[in-house]
Amino acid sequence: MLSSAGQFFLREGPSIGYSGAMIQATSQQDSAPVFPASQTVVSVTGLTKRFGGRLAVDNISFAIQRGQCVGFLGPNGAGKTTCINMLLGLVEKSAGEIRIFDLEAPRFHRQIKARIGVVPQADSLDPDLSVEENLRTYAGYFRIPRRLVRARVEELLHFFALHNRRDEIIEHLSGGQRRRLLLARALINEPHLLILDEPTIGLDPQARHLIWERLAILQAQGTTMLLTSHYLEEVSRLSQQVLILDHGQVVVQGEPQQLITDMVGLEVFEVDGTAAELDALAASFKECNATQERVGDKLYVYAREDCSRLVKVLGEAGSWVRRPANLEDLFIQLTGRSLRES
Ligand SMILES: Nc1ncnc2c1ncn2[C@@H]1O[C@H](COP(=O)(O)OP(=O)(O)OP(=O)(O)O)[C@@H](O)[C@H]1O
Ligand SMILES: [Mg+2]
Repeated sequence: MLSSAGQFFLREGPSIGYSGAMIQATSQQDSAPVFPASQTVVSVTGLTKRFGGRLAVDNISFAIQRGQCVGFLGPNGAGKTTCINMLLGLVEKSAGEIRIFDLEAPRFHRQIKARIGVVPQADSLDPDLSVEENLRTYAGYFRIPRRLVRARVEELLHFFALHNRRDEIIEHLSGGQRRRLLLARALINEPHLLILDEPTIGLDPQARHLIWERLAILQAQGTTMLLTSHYLEEVSRLSQQVLILDHGQVVVQGEPQQLITDMVGLEVFEVDGTAAELDALAASFKECNATQERVGDKLYVYAREDCSRLVKVLGEAGSWVRRPANLEDLFIQLTGRSLRES
């Protein structure tokens, strides 16, 4: 099939059902989606954005393969949202190349947008409409047949546990319900790429868990995702690849566990104690293949090998924990501990 943009596309396989077979059963004949032959869904080269004298995004390159979840991480102001907004054609790029579904952006913005689902960082629901009306109105932008819209709205309301609030106006929803509705709305066009900018921002643990669990289901079903979040534990569980940005540049990219092992180590000892105690411990841990960091009254030891033999010396310290190295350790190591945007 030749698309209007002059690119070759393959018909996609069975579509993703969010919680059951309803969407799979109905979508194929009515809105049979097309998908680019390439496995590369997003390809970004040398992407740059200047706001006046401020370089918000500085020569970024990355790719997202079909079915992959890529975690976009970085301190406040690192350039994540600006980068996403350039992918979506909401912010004009200063330089670089963006290809999504093998189409050049923003030139083929309309064709690209039709196949993307977006959860923006800032709530963009229509406050005058109800939950269900928000979904139906949004579906209208994609010219989805009415019969299909009905089925998808129903399924998404259930998938995001909003079916009992379908007639509520947005003003009456909690933050968590709004975020769930934004996600439901992002899925209304059965997107081939889901872009999520802080999907769980400001939510309580229950609401967060529900959203991360739903995202894991979508990921397992093969949805391609670009995700930003400061919940690093969840990001490392969901993403096959992470990019850590700082000051508009990619400081590292790769498979999260591999990066953690290579750059941080196997496990971390966090020890509290007096300066004298920590000095003594720091000396002991020098025998081990480990790096150390002193932050106030705390000593962090990032061990690259099994340091069990040193555990007995920890008995002399006030309190300590031993845990596996994680993405937050990597994040702090690469971007530092100082506060941004202060
Ligand atoms: N419209 C704009 N005009 C001027 N500067 C901007 C504009 N939008 C963003 N910036 C600046 O660009 C930089 C990157 O901002 P961006 O919103 O992309 O960061 P972020 O990584 O998404 O941060 P956060 O984690 O806080 O969401 C910041 O210094 C911000 O102040
Ligand atoms: Mg942002």
